[in-house]
Amino acid sequence: MSELGAVHLPGPEGLDRLAPENRAALRAVAYKGHAPFGAAEMDRLPGLGLIANYGVGYDAIDVHAARARGIRVTNTPDVLNDDVADLAVGMLLAQARGLVAADRFVRSGDWAAGRDFPLQRKASGARAGILGLGRIGREIADRLAAFKMEIHYHSRSEKETPGWIFHAEPVSLARAVDFLVVALVGGPETAGYVSAEVIEALGPDGVLVNISRGSCVDEAALLDALETGRIGGAALDVFVNEPRIDGRFLGLGTVVLQPHQGSATHATRAAMARLQRDNIVAFLAGRDPLTPVA
Ligand code: 8YV
Repeated sequence: MSELGAVHLPGPEGLDRLAPENRAALRAVAYKGHAPFGAAEMDRLPGLGLIANYGVGYDAIDVHAARARGIRVTNTPDVLNDDVADLAVGMLLAQARGLVAADRFVRSGDWAAGRDFPLQRKASGARAGILGLGRIGREIADRLAAFKMEIHYHSRSEKETPGWIFHAEPVSLARAVDFLVVALVGGPETAGYVSAEVIEALGPDGVLVNISRGSCVDEAALLDALETGRIGGAALDVFVNEPRIDGRFLGLGTVVLQPHQGSATHATRAAMARLQRDNIVAFLAGRDPLTPVA
């Protein structure tokens, strides 16, 4: 590795550009993005010992395949909790209060022309459901509690909370709330977790907020429900097939769309990069990585 140092590749497909002896010399990968990194990629890097992911969610990396090959995997937990939770709350408020349409209303001159912007929906005091009460879900719940919301949640097990209401399954959670915020981990075990049934249970006045992974939601069912008014609206930072999202979203006035920017502030992206680097430095120095997931 000493001759090669660090190489930048645009994605896993860039491995083809490396000479076989350089591929064999690679010991650690600093991974960024959501393209799958699985057994086939790992097998092309016979000297690989670490995949350090830039992000808390590591569903792009086949952890099972890594474990089987003795390859460590790290992520960047905690440093992004605040930003992702801030965005979830911002998106919820933007959807409820029509902020995007209101901005357009001012810019278009409609306000100056004496027109009235339609009344919007009150958010404070509503019932909020958090699907997945992990580190980020908890930050979201804490923020929404400060908006005097009644907090409901569903997660694998009941947690110690300040009086929040646990639901053993997601349909019951969706039925009980006005806003349902998805804060699940990605990956096969949560694929389609927000099913057609969950969406129906949320109902025509319900709003879905997703800051986790597009794969957690049955997107076809969501689009159908949005188009027919069987769900009130949605605020989405993540999508199936992002960034080339389903064009049907673009025509919907009840939806706030964000470009997967939950962790995208200068401060947090720098903190994520430092943690990713520190994991690699520890590994190359023969120490335990700081934030291993495998
Ligand atoms: C991305 C994220 O990692 O942390 C996560 O799980 O989804 C984001 O922070 C980031 O967009 C880089 O791809």
